Amino acid sequence: MRARGLVVERSRGEEARRALREARTLREDLAIVRRATDLVLPLVDGAEPPSSLGRLEEHDFPVQERPSRTEFRDLLDWPADRKRLLPRSFDIVGDIVLIRLPPELEGARGEIGEALLRFVPGARLVGLDRGVEGVERRRRVERIAGGGPWTTRHRENGLAFDVDVERAYFSPRLAGEHARLARLSRPGERAYDLCCGVGPFSVMLAHAGRVAAVTAIDANPAAIRLLRGTLARYPFGPRVQPVEASVEEFAASAPPVERVIMNLPREGIKYGPQVAPLVAPGGSLHYYEVVRRDEVRERGNVVERALSAVGPFAVRELRVVHPYSPSSDLIAVTAVRAGV
Ligand SMILES: C[S@@+](CC[C@H](N)C(=O)[O-])C[C@H]1O[C@@H](n2cnc3c(N)ncnc32)[C@H](O)[C@@H]1O
Repeated sequence: MRARGLVVERSRGEEARRALREARTLREDLAIVRRATDLVLPLVDGAEPPSSLGRLEEHDFPVQERPSRTEFRDLLDWPADRKRLLPRSFDIVGDIVLIRLPPELEGARGEIGEALLRFVPGARLVGLDRGVEGVERRRRVERIAGGGPWTTRHRENGLAFDVDVERAYFSPRLAGEHARLARLSRPGERAYDLCCGVGPFSVMLAHAGRVAAVTAIDANPAAIRLLRGTLARYPFGPRVQPVEASVEEFAASAPPVERVIMNLPREGIKYGPQVAPLVAPGGSLHYYEVVRRDEVRERGNVVERALSAVGPFAVRELRVVHPYSPSSDLIAVTAVRAGV
């Protein structure tokens, strides 16, 4: 059947599928078309996915003969109008499944948890995700099915990360970004990963093998402990130096380097004057932020102004990573400091 589709690189297929599902803009009655280097995802009428995910194209899609059991909701023997309240997506962190539920379904949390436990291969524990909070962005979770600790090992981009869902921030939705920044790294450069959490950006950079050294900084001792555990298992581990410190403390005496990453999406902008001097002339800052969708276009100028303390920065790229809420997006900004 002819329909509008979103063409995405194969490496970003899962990220795009998730984003469309969350925004309820993926057509479930048509099958995704797989080509040599890209995928075409069928879109519902009127869908306007962020252009950074891929380009739009009319395409002939095969009709799904029989809707496959692709959703955990198929395991629940509920009337259709109740099933519609269920979220379509959930997160998998190692052997832990995390789901957010609307208040109307909290009473059925046990039943939903058991369905997820059966649906996700290898799942051990299912948690109700109440979002992240506090300076350390710790996730509030409540066990709804299965058992065992909130610690796990999460596989991403061929690497295994030590994660503690309760004690340190980690999002499985950023795998594409971790890999993208690692691809951008250049031979011999030095990098800072500010607000590194359990260190996915740092570990990926070191694994890619081109950086001379990465310093990974976070104020949460649990995050640094988990990062040390991950690094201890890899031969490239010594290239990453974990530092338990605040951005303020670290920035006061650290010399500038060629690449700086900062993923502190809610308040990172306030650190602009301290972060700008950490970027060497000609170097890049990769900055992540949650912004209202109608303000995304203007955000480049705001970031440039926030960094201007040590001379001009120019935004080279601004991309939407994924929708964050019905009215906001997580964006990735690459700003380059003038100089060399
Ligand atoms: C959204 S998480 C990002 C973690 C990691 N970069 C990632 O992408 O998975 C933000 C992290 O910043 C840390 N953090 C918050 N404020 C900080 C500050 N002023 N100095 C150092 N770390 C901070 C928190 O402990 C948390 O681990």
